[in-house]
Amino acid sequence: MYKAPRGTFDILPEEQAYWKYVEDKAVSLCRLYSYQPLSLPIFEDAQLFTRTVGGGTDIVDKEMYVFRDKSGQELALRTEGTAPVCRAYLEHGLFNLAQPVKLYYMGPVFRYERPQAGRYRQHHQFGFEALGDADPALDAEVIQMAWQFFLSLQLSGLSIQLNSIGCKLCRPEYLEALKQHYASYAQRLCPDCEVRLSRNPLRLLDCKKPSCQEIAKTAPKPTEYLCHGCRVHFESVQRYLATLSIPFELNSRLVRGLDYYTRTVFEVEPQGKGGQSSLGGGGRYDELIETLGGNPTPGVGFAAGLERIILNLKAQKRAVRALPRPVAFIAYLGEEAKIEAMKIASELRQAGIPIVMATGDKGLKWQMRQANSSGSRYAVILGKEELANRAVTVRDLGSGEQNSVPMTDIAKTLKRGRE
Ligand code: HAM
Repeated sequence: MYKAPRGTFDILPEEQAYWKYVEDKAVSLCRLYSYQPLSLPIFEDAQLFTRTVGGGTDIVDKEMYVFRDKSGQELALRTEGTAPVCRAYLEHGLFNLAQPVKLYYMGPVFRYERPQAGRYRQHHQFGFEALGDADPALDAEVIQMAWQFFLSLQLSGLSIQLNSIGCKLCRPEYLEALKQHYASYAQRLCPDCEVRLSRNPLRLLDCKKPSCQEIAKTAPKPTEYLCHGCRVHFESVQRYLATLSIPFELNSRLVRGLDYYTRTVFEVEPQGKGGQSSLGGGGRYDELIETLGGNPTPGVGFAAGLERIILNLKAQKRAVRALPRPVAFIAYLGEEAKIEAMKIASELRQAGIPIVMATGDKGLKWQMRQANSSGSRYAVILGKEELANRAVTVRDLGSGEQNSVPMTDIAKTLKRGRE
C-alpha cells in the first residue's frame, strides 16, 4: 500500500471547511487592502533560493528539495514565496507600474524538516508583499494586515514580536560584536552553533537549545547597533503601529530563519509558545531584488502557515461554517424510473440546484442510506407509481415528512425548501 510521503497529508472533504474558511478570510483581507493575486510555479531555479534565503540557513542547507530536470537544469520545489514574487516582479517589469506594487499568493511550500505537529514537509502559505517603497508606514500596514487577518479568523491569545536587524551599513559591526560575544563561550556552543558562528552568526540568536539560549540572553542586541537611517525607520514603524493601535512586543532575539531581511522583522505567535510554533512571520527585505540583479528596490511582506492556523482554530474550538451540502438525492426503482430520474437530475442542476444522483440497482432502503450520508436535505423518489402519476415523492430527510409533487414543480418545491 502506498502512503502519502512522510510530512505530507491529504486534506479530506470533512477538513475542507477549515481551509475554505481561512482562504476566504485571506482573500477578503487582500481585497480590503487592495493587494492583487499572483500565482507562482511550484518549482523554481534552485539558485533563486540559495542566493536569497541564503547559504547557511537551515532552509537552504538542509531542507531544499533539489532535483535536475531532463535538460540538466537544477530546480528546487519552492521553499517560500517571497523570492519567487521578487523574481516575477523583475521578470514582468512590474517596476514600471506605479510603486509600491502589492501582491498576494497562496499555495504549497516544501521543506525537508523533521515532521511533528505543525511542522510538515509540505505546508501551505498565504503571503503578501509590497514592493518598491521603503516607507515605514508600509511596514506598519503589512503588520496591521497580518494582525487583522488573525483577528478576522477569531483567533485569540496571539502576540506580535517585533525587531529590527539593520541593513548592510550597520549589520557588519553588529555581527562582529555578536561573534565576539559567542567566541567567549565557544566551548559551550552546540555543534550547529559552532557552524553558525563562522557561517551565519545572526542565526546564533535563534538556536532553541537551552544552553545556547543562555548565551543569547546576554548577547548584544541588533537594535543597539542600528545606523541612523535604520533607527529612525524602526522608531517610525513603532510610532505608526501605536497610531493604528496594533499591539506588539519588542523582541531583540527575533532574527527569522531567512537571510534576506533588513530592518523590520516580525512574527505572530500563540502566547506561551516559542518561535517554533509561529503562525506567521515577515519583514522588510530592501536588498533582495538587487541580489536578483534588479535595481535597488525595497520590499516588505508577510506569510502565514495555513496548517498551523487550522490547528489553532481547532485548539480554540472555533466553529467554521460547513461547506454547502447537496439539496436533494434522486432515488429510483427500476430502469424506466432511472431514465426519468436522470432527466430530472439534469433539469434540476440546470436550474442551479445541487443534486446527488443514485446509481446502480439497489433497493430503496440502500438508496435512503446513501441519501442520508450524502448530507442532502431531501430525497426525490421515483418508482412505478410515481411514473404513472407524473409526480415524485419528495421526502424531507430531517423530519421524515413526505409529499407527492408533480414533476413540473420539483425545482420550485426544492427551492422553496431551501429558503
Ligand atoms: P517563514 O517564517 O519561513 O517565512 O514561514 C512563514 C510561516 O509558514 C511560518 O510562520 C509558519 O506558520 C509556516 N511554516 C513554515 N515552515 C513550516 C513547516 N515546515 N510546516 C508547517 N508550517 C510551516 C517565510 O517563508 C517568508 N517568505 C515570509 C515573508 C513574506 N517574509 C516576507 N514576506
